Amino acid sequence: MKTPISVGVIGCGYWGPLLVRNLKGLPNCNLKALCDASEARLKHLKELYPEIEGVTDHEQFLNGLDLDAIVIATPVKYHYSLAKASLLAGKHTFIEKPMASSSAECEELIEIAERNGLVLMIDHTFLYSSPVRKIMEIVEAGDIGDIRYINSRRLNLGLFQKDINVAWDLAPHDISIILHILGEFPITVNCQGNAHVTPHVEDVTNMSLYFRHKRFATIQSSWLEPRKIREMTIVGTRRMIVYDDLQTHEKIRIYDVRVERPPHYDTFAEFHYSYHYGDSYIPHIQQEEPLKVVCQHFVDCIENKTRPLTGGREGLEMVRILEASSASLKANGAPVMFSPSHEVISPIQQPQAKPLKAATATA
Ligand SMILES: NC(=O)c1ccc[n+]([C@@H]2O[C@H](COP(=O)([O-])OP(=O)(O)OC[C@H]3O[C@@H](n4cnc5c(N)ncnc54)[C@H](O)[C@@H]3O)[C@@H](O)[C@H]2O)c1
Repeated sequence: MKTPISVGVIGCGYWGPLLVRNLKGLPNCNLKALCDASEARLKHLKELYPEIEGVTDHEQFLNGLDLDAIVIATPVKYHYSLAKASLLAGKHTFIEKPMASSSAECEELIEIAERNGLVLMIDHTFLYSSPVRKIMEIVEAGDIGDIRYINSRRLNLGLFQKDINVAWDLAPHDISIILHILGEFPITVNCQGNAHVTPHVEDVTNMSLYFRHKRFATIQSSWLEPRKIREMTIVGTRRMIVYDDLQTHEKIRIYDVRVERPPHYDTFAEFHYSYHYGDSYIPHIQQEEPLKVVCQHFVDCIENKTRPLTGGREGLEMVRILEASSASLKANGAPVMFSPSHEVISPIQQPQAKPLKAATATA
């Protein structure tokens, strides 16, 4: 029998305990230690898991406990320094989304992991969820035709973050799904938003990603909405999918609807759009906790020496899009273009509005 991978989790606030519960249930994982800067959080976790060691000092946690792998679930601003220390200590490293605060930080972490032959995985949770895997199956089978656009809304009266805006907090879920479904990186990104509650931290944003062949995706993110909404619409040339993550049993519905333009017509009377209304159906989805699949995948990648589905490269692509969204926000929503190697080129200047002529003003 193989020796289980010994794992430690750093950051036991809101999300960390969910990772702890899932790691604890895996057969090939020995969850050995927890670390949190807050004594109160550690005490709470120790009450639930008295057999797991708990420390407040991250130096001791990373270097003194003989762990194979580290799971980082702290606020984003600590991801880079903790992940770097973890990788330099020779540990396989798992980082919560988004991977780090800048693409330069992500590139450095990827380089250290590759140089040392370590697994680096980023938690893009939704790619491991049953509904998103089912959507991928449907798209790959060609059932919905060519994708025209994707629209996503992730809104509620949310947990306000202090170090990142709502786009960095919520949009990673939508971005990861969109990139996975479309299988390509956008050409431009633009984003508009506003900080209503905490100065300089946008709590409402609207982001658009433009892809080749006129495909695009829009992402609305908000911590300032009365109703919780987690909805994505994928519009194809043949069918359309609505994914509502808040439904318990019917998360995906496929609509057999489309509109077609007549190929040619001679007179206006001959011109009719052709509307197709077919059935809608709900595919069966095997229920499974996505975070359990995420944790199992991390441990399997370490055991089998394989690359995770969402490794450092995918984490970097995500952070590049988030950086572009921040640059666009600063430039009042101007589009930000990427180079062919996916680096941000400075925001495209919006044409200045011409001043009204005196004659117009008096007309
Ligand atoms: N994948 C998902 O769906 C999902 C959902 C929620 C949050 N997250 C991510 O999880 C991470 C944590 O978010 P959260 O909401 O749990 O934050 P949180 O603020 O509730 O908890 C963070 C914890 O980290 C501890 N901490 C901070 N710095 C530390 C350090 N240097 N050493 C040790 N402990 C430290 C804090 O004391 C706190 O207990 C973020 O990256 C967030 O984006 C992911």
